[in-house]
Amino acid sequence: MKCRVAFFCGLSDTLGQMLNDTSSLRTYFETRRSGRPRDMVAPGPNEDELSAILALAARTPDHGKLVPYRFVIVGDDQREALADLFAAAVRDVDPEVRQAKLEKVCAKAHYAPSLVVLISSPIRDHKIPVWEQELAAGAVGMNLLHAAHAYDYVGAWITGDQAYAPAVTEAFCKDGERIAGYFFLGSPSADLVERERPDMDAIVTRWRPPTA
Ligand SMILES: Cc1cc2nc3c(=O)[nH]c(=O)nc-3n(C[C@H](O)[C@H](O)[C@H](O)COP(=O)(O)O)c2cc1C
Repeated sequence: MKCRVAFFCGLSDTLGQMLNDTSSLRTYFETRRSGRPRDMVAPGPNEDELSAILALAARTPDHGKLVPYRFVIVGDDQREALADLFAAAVRDVDPEVRQAKLEKVCAKAHYAPSLVVLISSPIRDHKIPVWEQELAAGAVGMNLLHAAHAYDYVGAWITGDQAYAPAVTEAFCKDGERIAGYFFLGSPSADLVERERPDMDAIVTRWRPPTA
């Protein structure tokens, strides 16, 4: 199978500083890059900005206007409780887990000035397929990153074991819901570095009707 990624050639560390160039819509999309949650520092969005960012994120295509998603903000005062939850989830799987691993997992709960958990909340047995509702929730996730950048912050979308561990999902989700991702928002403390991007020749084709 053909490799589907290609390195973005010619991008040096110096040019890397041009990532997330919001001087125009096009330059933004040409240079958009997520931040690294562990490298995110203050300032992050204040309460009003965060509300506005979530409202922008919700301006997303949604077949049937079902709004099959919701946002849960994890405030500063709840980060320690989230860390405890992450630790409990890890211990559920491995009661003998090493302290170093526990600390690494718990640290995630404290990353970045702002943390929003996006919940996929599809309506079952509806004429709009659950798949489409989940796609809408995913689109909201992407828009949430764009919205953070529109406010001159960086964002990152992370799942990991903590999005699937029963102890965690029970604390965030109602029946039939899933964690679509943890969205960390803040300011980058280190230069962002471009990552591999898809080889467009490998993923773009022109449709032809099937031959008999
Ligand atoms: C649904 C979803 C879940 C992800 N979960 C993780 C994760 O758990 N760990 C990780 O390192 N990256 C994860 N990523 C990828 C990150 O977003 C990653 O930083 C990515 O390289 C950012 O690329 P970008 O700069 O094009 O936004 C996830 C992405 C998506 C869409």
